[in-house]
Amino acid sequence: MSKKRLAIFASGNGGNLQAILEAIQRNEIEAEVKIVVCDHPGAYCIKRAEQFHIPTLVFSSKDFASKRDEEDWIIKHLLPLQLDYLCLAGYMRILSKKFVHTFPNQIINIHPALLPAFKGAHGILDAFQYGVKVMGVTIHYVDEEVDHGKIIAQDCFHVEENDTLETVEEKIHAIEHPLYVQVLKKLCHDESC
Ligand code: GAR
Repeated sequence: MSKKRLAIFASGNGGNLQAILEAIQRNEIEAEVKIVVCDHPGAYCIKRAEQFHIPTLVFSSKDFASKRDEEDWIIKHLLPLQLDYLCLAGYMRILSKKFVHTFPNQIINIHPALLPAFKGAHGILDAFQYGVKVMGVTIHYVDEEVDHGKIIAQDCFHVEENDTLETVEEKIHAIEHPLYVQVLKKLCHDESC
């Protein structure tokens, strides 16, 4: 079985990116990351990609006249790579209908809340402030709607009395990294999930 070809999209720290790259290095995921796409020049995820010698595609949305131009440019760079999956790992740009249709059933996202609750850019904060007693993460296929699409996997934990925003953020990151690895391991082995 040939290795799956991945693109990872990230905007900031790149903790999920790191977890995926380390799992590939351990041969836990049968894949190669062909490119890391980042919309924030200077973001730490770019350094992480470089440490693993992964090519990067870095841009700023203000370099483009329109979102359409921006996405056409990304697509132009990605199509020749013959990717199997595009993995959004802390990527904070919303993808257009056209982009999603260019890679049907190939785009996966991790969201730091139990979808369909707490969609959007502040999933952890919103869930914590709401006072939910169970928090978690969701990995799903990306469709035309934001934070929507077939759910692949979820994991969760109980919020304790003494938890703070900082501690629940740590707990979210502690469960999302292994969950993403587990999902990619299965997908790249052609197992249904
Ligand atoms: C992660 O918690 C991820 O779930 C979240 O951003 C964080 C990125 O961290 N994604 C979203 O909020 C998407 N809407 P990382 O850069 O360390 O992987």
